[in-house]
Amino acid sequence: MEVQGGGELENASKHEAEAEYHSHDFEWEDLKAKVEADPAFSYHLSPFPGHATTATTSPLPPSSSEAWRSFHRHHASGKFFKERRYLLKEFPELLNSKVCAKILEVGCGNGSTAVSILRSSESVTVFACDCSKDTLEKANEIISSTKGIDIKDRFHPFLMDVSKETFPDWLFCKACQSSLGKAAELLLDPSHHKIRKEHLVFLRENQCCVGGMDFITMIFTLSAIPFDIMPTTIEQCVSVLKPGGLILFRDYGLYDMTMLRFLPHQRVGFREYVRSDGTFSYFFSLDTVRELVHTAGLIELELEYCCINSVNRKNGKKMQRVWVHGKFQKPTS
Ligand SMILES: C[S@@+](CC[C@H](N)C(=O)[O-])C[C@H]1O[C@@H](n2cnc3c(N)ncnc32)[C@H](O)[C@@H]1O
Repeated sequence: MEVQGGGELENASKHEAEAEYHSHDFEWEDLKAKVEADPAFSYHLSPFPGHATTATTSPLPPSSSEAWRSFHRHHASGKFFKERRYLLKEFPELLNSKVCAKILEVGCGNGSTAVSILRSSESVTVFACDCSKDTLEKANEIISSTKGIDIKDRFHPFLMDVSKETFPDWLFCKACQSSLGKAAELLLDPSHHKIRKEHLVFLRENQCCVGGMDFITMIFTLSAIPFDIMPTTIEQCVSVLKPGGLILFRDYGLYDMTMLRFLPHQRVGFREYVRSDGTFSYFFSLDTVRELVHTAGLIELELEYCCINSVNRKNGKKMQRVWVHGKFQKPTS
């Protein structure tokens, strides 16, 4: 069985688009019972040899971000771009957000999520990071040429490996974080705030940072990051979120058909797999997501499986897709 990162991502996008207007075709508990009773799937269930099943002790896999950079170099056509229009239905607060809302899209890829958000309102600003320069350039190109979106000063892609680096100070500097999001009227001090020249464009005179994010979107990004690094990645995101701000989350769910297609040798951890192109994919249970967000001090507003029946147009095979949908809030105090 071939598990191609690219093909799988492309198919996933198609089916997500199809899942636009419904999210509960079957009960996740029924799928769980079926999978757990089937000996052919038993290797997916066993503890990973030598690895813990919690997010603290397993060794770091070889650079997954390098595999993503290579993935984007080899798929430079932008063919994996598919506007995620359904997101605005899943997360209506993006549509109803206050004027001038600031949104950070983590792991933006070719801009599939960013473009829908930018389209939703002319007053939102989207900051978007990825570990691949190629995909950021592609995202900029796609978004700049998308009809109906004026991105002047509204789309700010920046290069960052969230598994290794911390978010830049110009997003939400320490002084403003500790003053509960009220931008401190500090004088611009590039040496102190490590503001690079290209970032000054976002900032008004005498402004030390953009003042934090109202929303952070993590759409099929956390699963692409090694499990060990997830707690620090979420912690990082929380640090640049304003008090009361939301993390909007969608990702692969436990027993999704793409998980069951992975072969035993592709397991690199408990519920964690490596594709043939070296990119990683983790499959979340609700309990795992709950533990990760609670540890990061977030309040759970919504958390559920989306279970969709879809049909592969090429071979007519039925596929049971499982995604996790979540909405989490940073406490106001
Ligand atoms: C499945 S894609 C999701 C793209 C986008 N969020 C969307 O809605 O289509 C995962 C993205 O995460 C990025 N990524 C993976 N590891 C990363 C890391 N350590 N730091 C930043 N981005 C990363 C990849 O380059 C890729 O673009």
